[in-house]
Amino acid sequence: MTRLQIAAGNWKMNKTFEDAMQLSRALANATRDENVLTIMATPSIYLKMIVDQVLHVPGLEVAAQNCHEKESGAYTGEISAPMLESIGVKYVIIGHSERREYFAESNEVLARKVDIALANNLIPIFCCGESLEIRKSGKHLSYVANQLKESLYHLSAEELSKVIVAYEPIWAIGTGETASPEQAQEMHEYLRNALAEQYSEDIANGISILYGGSVKPANAQIIFSQKDVDGGLVGGASLKAEDFVQIINAF
Ligand code: G3P
Repeated sequence: MTRLQIAAGNWKMNKTFEDAMQLSRALANATRDENVLTIMATPSIYLKMIVDQVLHVPGLEVAAQNCHEKESGAYTGEISAPMLESIGVKYVIIGHSERREYFAESNEVLARKVDIALANNLIPIFCCGESLEIRKSGKHLSYVANQLKESLYHLSAEELSKVIVAYEPIWAIGTGETASPEQAQEMHEYLRNALAEQYSEDIANGISILYGGSVKPANAQIIFSQKDVDGGLVGGASLKAEDFVQIINAF
């Protein structure tokens, strides 16, 4: 079973308009590994413009960084999955640790967000990961597997096969403290085995599991070469085209 190799850039709350358009133009014009799917998770205000800008560029897609758990209603400032589908967005990050922390997004809320994304033909990039405290306790493997269990295991095999998983140890996000290749592989293998047990080997082997947390041009290749790592969800290093292109071409 071949899995998609993915380099996803999470721009978070960065880039004013011209800089955002310049970055997406640079990625569209760059020489990128054609076997790698490149995804730009841009601020929602730019999504439609960037979708239109890269519409006919092979291997380059756009993601939202979040969506609401409802399809419409009195939720000032929120963005819904139907809105994202209506402007041609195909992917949505769900459950990033910063949203779990700052917006109290529980596994139960995220299960509903996954459902509404799938119901609106969006591909969830489902984030999971542990704090340094949990890692130091030695309970990180079961803790992260439980995030998948509580937010994804209600899905049918067909639905789950559409989901991209992103393991992002919180202690590695934005810190420069990248997980070692062995630490990344250990967690990815554990999650893949958990998915195989819950669903099937076939389903588990078809799911792309990305690593996120201080991925840089210097460490991307060794991390992406790990057996159960299928690419990266990149923050800071995705904000400079020259750095992100090196990561895209590091597989
Ligand atoms: O979603 C990706 C992000 O959390 C990782 O950030 O800056 O450590 O690559 P960074």
